[in-house]
Formats: sequence, structure tokens, C-alpha cells
Amino acid sequence: MTDAILTLAAWPYANGPRHIGHVSGFAVPSDVFARYQRMAGNDVLLVSGTDEHGTAIQVKADAEGLTARQTADKYHQIIVEDLAGLGLSYDLYTRTTTLNHREVVQELFRSLHRNGYVVAKRQLGAISPSTGRTLADRYIEGTCPFCGDPGARGDQCDNCGRQLDPSDLGDPHSRIDGEVPVFVETEHFFLDLPAVADALRAWLATRQDWRPNVIRFSEQFAKELQPRAITRDLDWGIPVPVEGWEDEQLKRIYVWFDAVIGYLSASIEWARRTGDPDAWKKWWVGGGARSYYFMGKDNITFHSVIWPSILLGANGQGSMGGTPSAFGVLDLPTEIVSSEFLTMSGSKFSSSRNKVIYVRDFLREFGPDALRYFIAVAGPENQDTDFTWDEFVRRTNFELANEWGNLVNRSISMAHKNNGAIPPAHALTDADRALLEASRAAFGAIGELLGRAKFKAAISEAMRIVGLANKYLSDCEPWKLKDDTDRRDTVLHVALQVVQDCNTLLTPLLPHAAQKVFEALGGEGVWAAQPELVEVSEPGAEAPYPVLRGDYVNQQAVWLSKPIAVGTPLAKPTPIFTKLDPKLAETGPEWAPIG
Ligand code: MF3
Ligand code: ZN
Repeated sequence: MTDAILTLAAWPYANGPRHIGHVSGFAVPSDVFARYQRMAGNDVLLVSGTDEHGTAIQVKADAEGLTARQTADKYHQIIVEDLAGLGLSYDLYTRTTTLNHREVVQELFRSLHRNGYVVAKRQLGAISPSTGRTLADRYIEGTCPFCGDPGARGDQCDNCGRQLDPSDLGDPHSRIDGEVPVFVETEHFFLDLPAVADALRAWLATRQDWRPNVIRFSEQFAKELQPRAITRDLDWGIPVPVEGWEDEQLKRIYVWFDAVIGYLSASIEWARRTGDPDAWKKWWVGGGARSYYFMGKDNITFHSVIWPSILLGANGQGSMGGTPSAFGVLDLPTEIVSSEFLTMSGSKFSSSRNKVIYVRDFLREFGPDALRYFIAVAGPENQDTDFTWDEFVRRTNFELANEWGNLVNRSISMAHKNNGAIPPAHALTDADRALLEASRAAFGAIGELLGRAKFKAAISEAMRIVGLANKYLSDCEPWKLKDDTDRRDTVLHVALQVVQDCNTLLTPLLPHAAQKVFEALGGEGVWAAQPELVEVSEPGAEAPYPVLRGDYVNQQAVWLSKPIAVGTPLAKPTPIFTKLDPKLAETGPEWAPIG
């Protein structure tokens, strides 16, 4: 049966190139998942984009002497290139500065306001005494009033997961320059979270199969819901669509409120670009689809509490009732798939510290699949995980090159040399049948794991089959069967069948290598499709902008064990994975040296 699977990846800020910590959370996991779901025959929509409003971008712009828009343009371009290089199969990767996004955000804001879930209130806002400018919550640091953590931010404490106001912090100071802010009264719109609290908690109670870290954070957060400001004193962002506020130069919608709505607006933009403007509804309206949101753990509450609250209010489903927005009654998330942090020598991988490994440097030297593999097999799926060059070298050399690469290479080489084509199988032995059966059975087991975003377990099962196939070749020693060509053909046939199966099983993870193995087995055309970086324009907009999109529906990869075609010509294969110099484990590359 075909299911509609909405796959959503968190939106990176347009404030710098991506480092490998970023892409271990939102990017690679969402792509592996979406690629598997497509291969399993489901209707997948994978969308995301660059998060371009708010203080993070303004701060970067100030630092670089650019305007916020120039900064957004610059980093959107760079990020799109990083993500394309990784082979992330977005149906649409767009940005939050489109007119479409603005309209969708404003429509949801108006619906919430009309339904009574957004109310104006006075609050204390933090101002930098030296510049007179507003200091956004995220840029104020201090001591958490709940757990005492000294690194809490003005919007939330990453240590205990509580929602905070900057004025709650002990010893508040600017994260930019250490200055102590002053607090003055200012009017803002608030999302009335208490008015959706009952509906939210009832919904959360149905989500008990989420990963433990997500449930823990969300339930904690949902216990203490307070109205939350969704406008800011800022000139970079989406104007507030309420009479009297639209022309206010210094009031803008809070970046997080606008960003999470990107999931919906990007789906709508995708539909328009396909020529069927209603196509998005299949994934959003009527409860017929499942939705999976991928992110790092610092994003959890925005997705598991704030975004569902926005949806409940805009749908008119909180304690004040109301009528749905122009988009109809929108579905809430099915799954929040959150990763922990990828760390380097124990500290959170962050571009503000100096040990940064940028995606593009990594791709230039090692290619996309080695990084995808590392993130999926050794990344922070369930706990903070330290990246080390030592482990990267070990995984690449022993697992990708020795185990997988070598199995592909020796099976195809021998068949090429002896037969020049895929040989036929003759009488099968128990060992032949056992291996074929193990590899066929893996489709069910691994598919089930990938469908639940359990990547590590999925890979270890796939690599177990690769190991069985290597052992089979060592046991059968086809290279010694010069006088029994029937048996030799059978062994090579079985090995090639299992190579093809394993290649299918590894395709969501290693799509670039999978295309090469497919071709080495005599396949023609596109096995695993890759995203294209294209410039698009928008009616009414000033300039075209780059997006990612792709034709994944017509790729040949399918999640099943297909019989190999006897007689398909085989050329001499070239290695798919090159071994890394073991010295790299001690020194690191030139552009990110160890020590
Ligand atoms: N830009 C945010 C971050 O990097 C993530 C936004 S996710 C979104 O932490 F869904 F809200 F867009
Ligand atoms: Zn805390």
C-alpha cells in the first residue's frame, strides 16, 4: 500500500556555511529516511529551506558589514551548495524570504489572532545600553532560574529544556559582547499557549512512541506553558499583519514563529511549481499522511510544542474554539526525530568555537558518501557523540573500503574475468540458499528499522549481510574452481545477487556509491536520483533565487531483491571507495588539523 509520508528537515540559519555537526542533525537523517520511503513505494514529500530572518542573521550582517538581505543571499547560496553536495534529495529546498512564505505566515498569524490565540501584551524587552538596540532573547545569556545552568539563553535552557524569558535569567549579559542589558516596557503579540494547553497535552499523550529525549523535553515544557512573545523589536523579518502594526518599522514576527511555518509554505511552493497548486494537501490535510520532523535536540520544543500549538490555534482547536485558516484543518506532527549533538573533544560542535569541520571542505576531500556513512553509523542518534578522525578513518577503511568495496570489487572482477557477464547459477547448495535467504530477509528487517529512523541498527544489519557474503566467498574460494566452472559460475552468481541486494539496502545511505555499483553490475540510467540546484523566480519578486529540487519518482531504485539478469555484460570494475591514509587519524586534514 502507498502511504503519504511528509519528511521535514529543520531549516538552517543563513549565517554561515554548514559544518558537519549541523548536517548530522537535520540533513543526513532526513534524506536517508526519505530515500528509503521512496524506494518502499511511498509518496514522499521532503521539503526544507534556509532560515533567513531574525537576529542571528542581523548579527552576522553587522559583523560582515552587509545588510541582512545580502547576508541571507550569500549564505543561502552557500548552504544550497553544501546540501546539494551531500546529495540530499529535497523535493524543494527553498528559503524564508520568499513572498509565498510571507503570505502563508501572515495568513496563519491572522487566523490565530482572529481565533483569539494571539493577543497583544506589554512585556519587558532587553535593550543594549550602548547601541539602544533590542537584544534578542537568544543573544542574552545567564543563569537558569530552574536548574542553575550558567549557559542558559534568554529563550530556553538547553540543559533542563525549560522555556525562559530573558528577564528570568540571573546575571544576564549579551552573548555578543558581554554587556549587561537594560529592560524596558514594550508591546508585543503573544501566542496564548495556555489556551491550547489542554488540546496540546491530550495530543502529546498520544505520542508515547517518540524517542525518549523528545518526550522528556516536550512534557516538561508542556507542564509550564506561558504566553509566548511572537513579535520582536527588529527591522528584519515578516511584518505583523494586524492593523496599525503593518507599517511599524521596528516590529517584526519572531523568527521561530515564521520558520516553523516554512514546512507548510515550502510544501505549498513545491505544489505551485509542479503546476498542481493543491498537491500539498495530500500531506497536510485530512489525516491521511504521516509527518516526520528531523532536527538537532536544541530544536525539539519548537517542533513538539510551539509548532503544534500554532497549528491547533490556527485550526480553531484550542479552548477558545474558532475557525480554521484558509489552509483548512492542518495535521499535527506524527514524529519528531531529534538527534543529540555531534561534539569535538567534548564541546558542542558550534561555529562559534574554533574547531570547525565545514561540509564543503569535507566533501572536496572525501566525497559525500563517506560523511553520510559516518553520520549514520557513528553519529549522535541517541547520545552526544564525539567526532574523531581516528574513527572516521577506521569506518571508511574497514567498513566501506575493506568490507563493502572489496565485496563489490572482487565479485564483479572475477565474473568479468571468467565470464565477461553475469554467470548463470546451477545446482544450489545449502550455503548458497542460506546466503540468498539472509539477504532477501534483510529487506524486511532493515526496512522496518529505516522506517523508524533507527539508522545505526539498520546499518549494522546491512553490514552483517555484507560480512556473510565476504565469508561465503572466502569459504567457497571460487578462484580455485578452475576445473569446476559450473560450481564457480554458481558461486559468482550468488555473490553478485547478494552484491546487488546489499547495494539496494545501502542505497538510502550511500546513494552516490549505489549509482556506481548499479552501473558496475551493468545497469543503465538513474538508479538513485540526485538533487539539482536551479534558479527559480517568483511572481512579484525582485530577483530569482537558487533552490534544490529533483526528479526522484523516476529513479529505478526499489526496495526489493530483484533477480540479477544472467548474461548482462560486466566491465572491469573500478574501486568505489578509496582507502584513506592511516596518518590522517593522527594528524587530521590540513584544513582541520588535530591539536
Ligand atoms: N534555524 C534554526 C536553527 O538552526 C532551526 C529552525 S527549524 C524551523 O536552530 F523549522 F523552525 F525552521
Ligand atoms: Zn535550566
